[in-house]
Amino acid sequence: QAIHLKDYLPPAYLVDDVALKFDLDDHATRVSARLKMRRHPQREAGLPLELFGTALRLTHIAIEGQPLDEDEYRLDAERLVIAKVPERFELTTEVIIDPAANTALEGLYRSSSMFCTQCEPEGFRRITYYPDRPDVMATFTTTVIGDRERLPVLLSNGNPTESGELPNGRHFVTWRDPFPKPSYLFALVAGALEKVEDHFTTVSGRQVTLQIWVERENLDKTEFAMGALKRAMKWDEEAYGREYDLDLFMIVAVNDFNMGAMENKGLNIFNSSAVLANPATTVDANFQRVEGIVAHEYFHNWSGNRVTCRDWFQLALKEGFTVFRDQSFSADVNSAPVKRIEDVSVLRTMQFAEDAGPTAHPVRPESFIEISNFYTLTVYEKGAEIVRMLRQLLGAERFRTGADLYFSRFDGQAVRVEDFVSSMSEAGDVDLTRFMRWYAQAGTPVLDVEGEYDAKAQVYRLKVRQHTPATPGQPAERKLPLHLPLRLGLLDAGGAAIPLWLDGESRGTDTVVELFEAEHEFRFERVPSAPVPSLLRGFSAPVKLRFPYDREQLALLVKYDEDGFNRWDAGQRLALAAIEEVMLALQAGAEPRLDPTLLDVFTHLLDTPSDDLAVLAEMLKLPSEAYIAGEQEAIDIDAIHQARRFVTRALGEALEPRFRALFEANQSEAPYAPSFEQIAQRSLRNVALGYLCATGGEKALHLAQHQFEQDRNMTDVRAALTLLAHSDAHQLGDPAVKAFGERWAHDPLVMDQWFAIQVTRPQPDVLDRVRFLMRHPAFSIKNPNKVRALIGAFANLNRVNFHRLDGEGYRLVADVVIELNRLNPDIAARIVTPLTRFQRLDAKRQSLMRAELERIRREPLSRNLFEVIEKALA
Ligand code: ARG
Ligand code: ZN
Repeated sequence: QAIHLKDYLPPAYLVDDVALKFDLDDHATRVSARLKMRRHPQREAGLPLELFGTALRLTHIAIEGQPLDEDEYRLDAERLVIAKVPERFELTTEVIIDPAANTALEGLYRSSSMFCTQCEPEGFRRITYYPDRPDVMATFTTTVIGDRERLPVLLSNGNPTESGELPNGRHFVTWRDPFPKPSYLFALVAGALEKVEDHFTTVSGRQVTLQIWVERENLDKTEFAMGALKRAMKWDEEAYGREYDLDLFMIVAVNDFNMGAMENKGLNIFNSSAVLANPATTVDANFQRVEGIVAHEYFHNWSGNRVTCRDWFQLALKEGFTVFRDQSFSADVNSAPVKRIEDVSVLRTMQFAEDAGPTAHPVRPESFIEISNFYTLTVYEKGAEIVRMLRQLLGAERFRTGADLYFSRFDGQAVRVEDFVSSMSEAGDVDLTRFMRWYAQAGTPVLDVEGEYDAKAQVYRLKVRQHTPATPGQPAERKLPLHLPLRLGLLDAGGAAIPLWLDGESRGTDTVVELFEAEHEFRFERVPSAPVPSLLRGFSAPVKLRFPYDREQLALLVKYDEDGFNRWDAGQRLALAAIEEVMLALQAGAEPRLDPTLLDVFTHLLDTPSDDLAVLAEMLKLPSEAYIAGEQEAIDIDAIHQARRFVTRALGEALEPRFRALFEANQSEAPYAPSFEQIAQRSLRNVALGYLCATGGEKALHLAQHQFEQDRNMTDVRAALTLLAHSDAHQLGDPAVKAFGERWAHDPLVMDQWFAIQVTRPQPDVLDRVRFLMRHPAFSIKNPNKVRALIGAFANLNRVNFHRLDGEGYRLVADVVIELNRLNPDIAARIVTPLTRFQRLDAKRQSLMRAELERIRREPLSRNLFEVIEKALA
């Protein structure tokens, strides 16, 4: 059942040009296709023609206009095989499909009042019979026919070439996309949509029309995305020399969408949550998410569309690179250190967990059962870290040369990871043979570092050892050393940077050393006193770094390190140690205490004027429960939760006047803007409010209540409402929660936030609330955003209640997974993830979770869920 990278063969036949005609109808859309095909020059003559097709009803098939007899082709549930075809021919087919019954949201489906498509990775085969694989690239002409009243807007890829009226109140539009593309980039949208329009002039003077298409009620939520799009277009010209290539660029917002968005050529389709935004309904973090995703999809026009993937094993070729590009863009237009902190947090909490779990896989997997299961944090985020390391190893300039080379050499082609890396190797004149192991080896590498100071010789030796733990199918003894950049510096006891001398060479106060063996020793000379090393600055490689820091050393790094990222990271290490100390006390039944070093560091942070408020806000946040869990050999769910709460409360009590002052000082009267200065202010203010509320004092809750009622913007309202809804003193039925739910009942994206706020309440009464909300009229199990907001938020963020010892949290999630398995296999296989992460939990929880997985396994499973469950139970 599994497909292997090593079995790759080029397709027997290629498609040069496609003409499609859609006659849209809810339950019986007629799709006619004319494919101009020829034998692949590298494959032998006489091979059968294999086309993919799922849930299609074939009504006509002909070659060169000659209808085929039934014995000339073979049809099964996934394939159409024609035994004999000429060297060059025209294939015509007609099929009937049922978009209204399509709950998988792949292929052509209905969302609210519109028709839309999602074809990546293998959705096109739900539209027509086709060699649906990315190494088959063709030009497309698409005619869309629909009811003029109900479907006034008919969109597809490229430029519109013709339109007109038809009998029976119908009309049509024909679209032509001149760029050859794989079928996964095909798109069609039809509906009663309205647009906002703008223009962009490219660096070479091409006039591009930009359109964002939405349902009428969302017109007031498009402005920010349009601005983001223009910023992204400009940035890609400047940072990568990439210019847009069509006269028209369209974005459409749809409510039912499995992922964030899709980069279809000239017609990006977005989950409405990833494009719509305004201050009344959208929190700061979501403005930034919208900006990042708009940029991501736009950047795909080059890294993905013009240069695409040979096969789906190469997914990280486009995704890792494009994520790196969108991360760099966001860092450039916002606060770079905060962006890095956020990206690393996601990587370390979520990707590291994936890399340590049963579905761990290399950035380029060797095999899969269902490719949709590989749109993962590993492919995307770790894939981006690999590209970031290449940039670090080559330097910015040679990296850019490598990117230019890659784009020019492979334009219009479907290529492999090797093609990207060899462009970099050539441009940078570096040997990247060992570096390629990053794509092949799963698991998070561990760096064990030791330092030894020789006062007499004034020499500091850093000993670095690396290893990668075993992952499924890759035992530890088969893991090889990786090539990686380790950025570092040394501080003296007063916090000053020590000039670095390595092998007789001066290296300033910040340098990069390269690792490629299992063990290295670096000998720093002229070191006047015992130093504190600042290691892995900027998180220069996606690894776990171990160094036996004591708390005083961490405090020194927090206060004085010149690298903003490492200041934050040292603070996280210190907070983690303080929380772990409380956990030990709780487990031993002893009286816990607040670590005085942590208190000292927080006092210092609050008393020292900071020039970067955004970083300060990050530094005042304690590591999440998920991050703490990732650092434990054996996870004690309740101790983690209680210890983190204890430390939060103790800090809040000890520093109450300071947090109060911070809260007051960051009250801004300026009109809302999602600028990073304002975002930093709001973030600081709400972090302070969080500590104040953690003390449990009535006064603090009144502040929250007041902020809620002030109703300045969604960021402040949501922060206040969350604190109210999660406080011991309040119930979920309280007026604020109720008022919010009634006020925003008409806005699905706000209702998603309302669901998430309620189901993340840590008190045990939350489970009834989850069940109650699943029957709320605004909830629908068919809408992925709703499922994520309610079930996803509960299972991933409400750890104490998901992991309840009576197993009720697990059962609830498993019930939803079973229902989703029939409706939407992609979402089912994602929502089940937390149930598969039982490896380091106690025996009781392990057996409860396994039992739920076994119960799911007794269902007739989709390929998606089958693959995940088998791996989890293996
Ligand atoms: N290429 C899209 C993006 O990263 C994601 C599409 C994923 N679709 C899916 N069914 N898994 O921007
Ligand atoms: Zn992408």
